[in-house]
Amino acid sequence: TSLKSYNTFGIDVNAKQFISINTIDELRQVLKQNYSGDLFILGGGSNMLLTKDIDAIVMHINILGKRVVRKTKNSVFVEALAGENWHQFVLWTLENNWGGLENLSLIPGNIGTAPIQNIGAYGVELKDTFVSCDAIDLQTLESISFSAEECEFGYRNSIFKNKVKGKYIITGVTFKLKKKNHVIQTNYGAIDESLRCSGISDPTIQDVSKAVIKIRQQKLPDPRVLGNSGSFFKNPVITKTELELIKLDYPEIPSYEISRNEAKIPAGWLIDKAGLKGYREGDAGVHKNQALVLVNYGNASGKEILLLAKMVQEKIKKQFNIDLEPEVNIF
Ligand code: EPU
Repeated sequence: TSLKSYNTFGIDVNAKQFISINTIDELRQVLKQNYSGDLFILGGGSNMLLTKDIDAIVMHINILGKRVVRKTKNSVFVEALAGENWHQFVLWTLENNWGGLENLSLIPGNIGTAPIQNIGAYGVELKDTFVSCDAIDLQTLESISFSAEECEFGYRNSIFKNKVKGKYIITGVTFKLKKKNHVIQTNYGAIDESLRCSGISDPTIQDVSKAVIKIRQQKLPDPRVLGNSGSFFKNPVITKTELELIKLDYPEIPSYEISRNEAKIPAGWLIDKAGLKGYREGDAGVHKNQALVLVNYGNASGKEILLLAKMVQEKIKKQFNIDLEPEVNIF
């Protein structure tokens, strides 16, 4: 089976076997019959780079459903199952006028993989509304629940990328959203500016969502049109001393303070400054509007994208002495 339409990079590799999983029972059954370690879990396929054929059983998690778990005076607890599309879920919460996910509009991918990298955008992260997630233990096939604290969320990071990597399949996520008294966040990125341009002074969550969608559509390529996985690298964190050194040569470098002695640098700026924005080698390229996004112009192989990524890393290391770490999972 070709996986081309199952990964947003549009990389054409084959799976030894492909199974679509529609219920948690089905998931348990397949695991019981097949588990021997060679399983490959596929969610929305929006944060991965496939570099070769998958010599394993690819399990496409297509478990659907969403529901209100309970309501309090000001809040609502909602659960979405792993196979639900992230953005469609966000739109549903907005239709119901529940606040909390508006800044995370239009992020590609599914519910089940969102906690793994604690998806985030425009000053908000998944962890801000996350209550818990349910997961199946691949070894015991039992269902277990992880609280927000147990997930050890960090910037594009969680326990599922570290300690328990590959040990669980997330089957559903519960969020706590606001029915009332929700405080919107518009001071990050260009949201305020975009709202001002639209003449909106007292924005609703729907206005914020629309602004985010507009900004993302301007900067980020639509994976259905141009294969990509969003930001390919994480924004690196460096010490303030290192930053001061770089500022000697590049006084205009943007940075966000994240602690007393550390700052986060936009990797897109570094790649842009290195002159690589719009660079293209065959069908693999650096996006022309946002240098942090690598793109597949059609028939690039995963290896070609990976080579391009390595070249970018080397160039940034040489020019700024900064190590760029991939944000996408490379297989
Ligand atoms: N910049 C450039 N040239 C570029 C790209 C960016 O100079 O080609 C500069 C911008 O001018 C700006 C700064 O870099 O000063 C930051 O750029 P931007 O606001 O586009 O955000 P980012 O840091 O590149 C991060 C997330 C995105 C998220 C946006 C908005 C990471 C790795 N990426 O990007 O997340 O949407 O902020 O919050 O943290 C993703 O994870 O896939 C993703 C798209």
